Amino acid sequence: MISAHLTIDPHFVVGPINRRLFGSFVEHLGRCVYDGIYEPAHPDADKEGYRRDVIALVKELGVSTIRYPGGNFLSGYRWEDGVGPVENRPRRLDLAWHSTETNEIGLDEFASWLKKVDSELMYAVNLGTRGVQEALDVLEYANIRSGTTLSDQRIANGAVEPYAIRMWCLGNEMDGPWQLGHGSPEEYGQLAVKTARAMRQLDPALELVLCGSSNAQMPLFANWERVVLEAAYDEVDYISCHAYYEPHDGDYASFLASAVNMDRFIDSVVATADHVKAVRGSKKTINVSFDEWNVWYHSRYAEVDRITGIDDWPVAPRLLEDAYSVADAVVVGSLLISLLRHADRVTSASLAQLVNVIAPIMTEPGGAAWRQTTFFPFALTSQLARGVTLELKLDSPTYETALHGEVGVVDAVATHDASTGDTAVFMVNRSLTEAVELAVDVRNLGQVAVVDAQTLHDDDIHAKNTLDDPERVGLTPNTAHSIADGVLRITLPPVSWTAVTLR
Ligand code: AHR
Repeated sequence: MISAHLTIDPHFVVGPINRRLFGSFVEHLGRCVYDGIYEPAHPDADKEGYRRDVIALVKELGVSTIRYPGGNFLSGYRWEDGVGPVENRPRRLDLAWHSTETNEIGLDEFASWLKKVDSELMYAVNLGTRGVQEALDVLEYANIRSGTTLSDQRIANGAVEPYAIRMWCLGNEMDGPWQLGHGSPEEYGQLAVKTARAMRQLDPALELVLCGSSNAQMPLFANWERVVLEAAYDEVDYISCHAYYEPHDGDYASFLASAVNMDRFIDSVVATADHVKAVRGSKKTINVSFDEWNVWYHSRYAEVDRITGIDDWPVAPRLLEDAYSVADAVVVGSLLISLLRHADRVTSASLAQLVNVIAPIMTEPGGAAWRQTTFFPFALTSQLARGVTLELKLDSPTYETALHGEVGVVDAVATHDASTGDTAVFMVNRSLTEAVELAVDVRNLGQVAVVDAQTLHDDDIHAKNTLDDPERVGLTPNTAHSIADGVLRITLPPVSWTAVTLR
């Protein structure tokens, strides 16, 4: 058994936790929308065609904000195709995913579904094949109360109240050569600043997200951020980060430490934003919207899933339907630890995606919906991480990884909610073989007791939940803990994620 030590003090605060940290992402991709959230022929569909079982799971997941409608799909999307009478809506080629978009679901339908799941809409405008005018049009359609052609069109389409969408993404991954309309940072920076200025002329209170790099390995990474921020610093509020992780060549030691990469990515983007701030002598601080993050078996997609052929444009094909393992869920839990640790600067984040496509929720057409392994750390963190993130003192043994150098065996974050007095501690043991006994010094919290401790672990780190065995993996109560003399001792099994509530 390995030993590690943690000290918690509620006086040392990183920052308040924005609920938007527990956002997700719905893209018109594969079966995320069609045959995912929307399946009118399903026996459990409501009168608008949305699956009630999926709605219940999305609510249980505790998703605050949902980014929509893409993703790579966005950069070829015409928002107006998705409004008005459904029978008149065009069928379009989706070049990003080589599919046919039927446009049965658009802004009005999605906004109506969001009410059912109690989530906020974060809308993205197409800066790939479109620009300033189309961004203004969709903003007017969504947010102007009435009295103009577009706002009255929304009302005629059934939405009397404006949607009051606050957060808007200025395009998607515009640094990626795969992106329709991709260009240089100078080109994107100019388009983004013009679009942002125009949108703010309509509504100065909008919160705007500038595209950062698609991942920290992109060739222009950090320079892209610098150049686009130099152009648009005064006009935007956030710079985006995207990151997906997977084990490479069976290197689970590195994979389990993916959060180290996320930590460094966030720190680099924050440093770059603050550099631009310093050069400009600006008083304004740009925060991070980590609006795509997850485990994604991306290399598998490149080989197996990709659709090609001039005559092959399927509707809602099965794409990116990764089945997640225990190890994947432990990584997702540890990525949430990284996001929480940066709560002072990461004030919005989106688990990509929500249903069927690299998702915590899976569905079968006409059949069941179930929770993937990754569902559990997200749902419990969203439920427990309230108030502020605390600075911790963590002493952990380390191990060497091929991808990230020397990393801690244990990682942890703690949150404290002054309104209830509750403290939540989220912990991960990355060792493939050894359990850890973690001693947590809780003296500064006063007299506390453990009210709940849940662990995600399985002797088979590759175990998954599937259609045939949907409840194979879940959380189990961790009873291997005790408190004496102000020290909580808890055993963390190898490759595990644990959440403890202290009251
Ligand atoms: O989430 C899947 C895809 O990953 C998104 O469409 C894109 O933005 C990213 O590359």
